Order: sequence, then C-alpha cells, then structure tokens
Amino acid sequence: MRQRYAVIGNPIAHSKSPLIHAAFARQTGADLEYGRLLAEPDDFEGTVRRFFGDGGRGLNVTVPFKEQAFRLADEHSPGAAAAGAVNTLIPLPGGRLRGDNTDGVGLVRDLRENHGFAFAGRRLLLLGAGGAARGVLRPLLETGLKELLIANRTAARATALADAAADLGAVSGCGLTDLGGTDFDLIINATAAGLTGAVPPLPPRCLAPGAWTYDLLYGDRPTPFCCWGRAHGAAQALDGLGMLVEQAAESFRLWRGIMPQTAPVIELLRPTQ
Ligand SMILES: NC(=O)c1ccc[n+]([C@@H]2O[C@H](COP(=O)([O-])OP(=O)(O)OC[C@H]3O[C@@H](n4cnc5c(N)ncnc54)[C@H](OP(=O)(O)O)[C@@H]3O)[C@@H](O)[C@H]2O)c1
Repeated sequence: MRQRYAVIGNPIAHSKSPLIHAAFARQTGADLEYGRLLAEPDDFEGTVRRFFGDGGRGLNVTVPFKEQAFRLADEHSPGAAAAGAVNTLIPLPGGRLRGDNTDGVGLVRDLRENHGFAFAGRRLLLLGAGGAARGVLRPLLETGLKELLIANRTAARATALADAAADLGAVSGCGLTDLGGTDFDLIINATAAGLTGAVPPLPPRCLAPGAWTYDLLYGDRPTPFCCWGRAHGAAQALDGLGMLVEQAAESFRLWRGIMPQTAPVIELLRPTQ
C-alpha cells in the first residue's frame, strides 16, 4: 500500500509541499502520496488523530497550527522544544507522536550549503519574534556566529526571546525603532510584514560592506525585503524558497531515513524572473 503523508493547515490550497515531496519521492524511488489536509480551526487534533489512525506516516504542519502541534506531540526534538512550535509530526508506537521543527535547519542549510554563507565570526540581525523567528533562532546560534540581535516591532517579545536563548550564545533583543547604526553581515527578515507588501523600518546604513539579506518569505516576484536588500547594496538578497525546500527535505529524512537532493527541486520551483 502507498505510504501516506500530508501537510496540514488552514488555508492549505496554496501549499507547495506536495510538489516538493512528489519530487523527492521520484528521486528516491519511494511509493508514497503526499496531500494537502485542511483542518478546521477547532478540529486540528481530531484531523491529526484520524490521519494517523488511518495509517498516515507523517505530517507537516503549517499556519496556524504549529503551536497546537507542539502541544499535541508527546515528545519533542530539542529544536521543537526551543521553538515551542512543531512543523513535523512523526508517529511513534502506541499512537504517540514526536514533534520536530525543521525550519531552522532548512534556513541554515540554504544559507551555508546552497549559497556558501560563512557564519563564523559574523554579526547577524534577525527581524521578528514570532513563530518563524523562534524556529530559526537555536540553529542560527549553533552556527558559530559572533553576535545575534533580534529586533521586533514589539520590543518586549524580542528581549524575551533573546533572554530565553542566552545560554546558547551572544544574543540580545530590542525594538525595531531602537536599532542604531550597527553594521550587520546578514539581516534575516522573519517578520510577516512582506505579506502586506511592507518592509520593517530599518536605519539606512545597517549593512556592513559585502553584507547579505535573507527574507523567509518567497513568491513569484522578488519580495519587498529582497528589493530593499538590492536597493541598499546587499551582495546577495535571497528569498525563502531554498529554506522551504530544505525544511521539507529534513522532514523527509526524519520520516524515511534518506536525505533527498534539494538543488534540482529548488530549480524546479524557482519562477523565471
Ligand atoms: N520559507 C519558509 O520555509 C518559511 C517558514 C516559516 C515562515 N515563513 C515566513 O516567515 C514570516 C513570519 O511568519 P511567522 O509564522 O513567524 O508569523 P507570526 O508568528 O505571525 O509573527 C509575525 C512577526 O512579524 C512581525 N510583524 C508583522 N507585521 C509587521 C510589520 N508590518 N512590520 C514589522 N513587523 C511585523 C510581528 O511583530 P509583533 O510581535 O510586533 O506583532 C512578529 O514578530 C511569514 O512571512 C512566513 O511566510 C517562511
């Protein structure tokens, strides 16, 4: 019987995950199907339980259910525990569920392995303190970077997030409006501002010479933050498509024990611009 996987969310029709996992399945010769699962806001747990009760092998979780998936999981990877959010559910014997979070691994792999960014000794600015920022914070702090500043519209969320991760490295938090003239080697946009066409307010000269920008958002056109990076002289202004494919590959590896090749899948999904 074909093994069943899916991505669960609301809305879910736009998700590219089925395309990505179909490509991984072709590549690795796996006989599986990967669908889209729409859960009603008040029936996330029921939908998950039915999926695994019917023999499902794995779920990806997307907006707005990552925190609920964290609460539903019986055990957590260190990354999921640090993020308080789960994007990958893995069935365990006895109907139990393990929750993982592959977003941060995906971001770091895209930057380091696909694009050759060297983290060691670098100063990073992470914009945002929501679910995505929480998910990427720990893997970023494990890269050997020199210093990470979290800046968020609501300053208190940034400082709380930084305080909670203080044992992992040199990390601090502030409000977006408190940003001074510090030069950063990499600015990562993990805010939802781009969804409404906006860019977080930034001082004009906060990029060090040769600095990069990375937007977790992706789309058919350059995102507003990619445009900001290009306009302010970033050496590279990347979007989150590579992260999307890399986090999917890490989920695939956790479920099936095989790491698929990501470069051809990123190429497949990359719109011609
Ligand atoms: N590429 C990938 O694989 C991937 C994976 C996960 C997420 N993402 C993307 O990451 C982004 C954030 O998602 P999320 O789940 O973290 O959302 P979220 O939990 O709702 O958090 C939103 C964050 O954005 C900030 N924000 C919202 N509107 C803003 C504005 N106009 N100006 C400045 N800051 C603003 C919020 O600040 P306050 O705290 O002040 O409200 C908060 O820090 C989304 O664009 C999502 O598509 C991409």
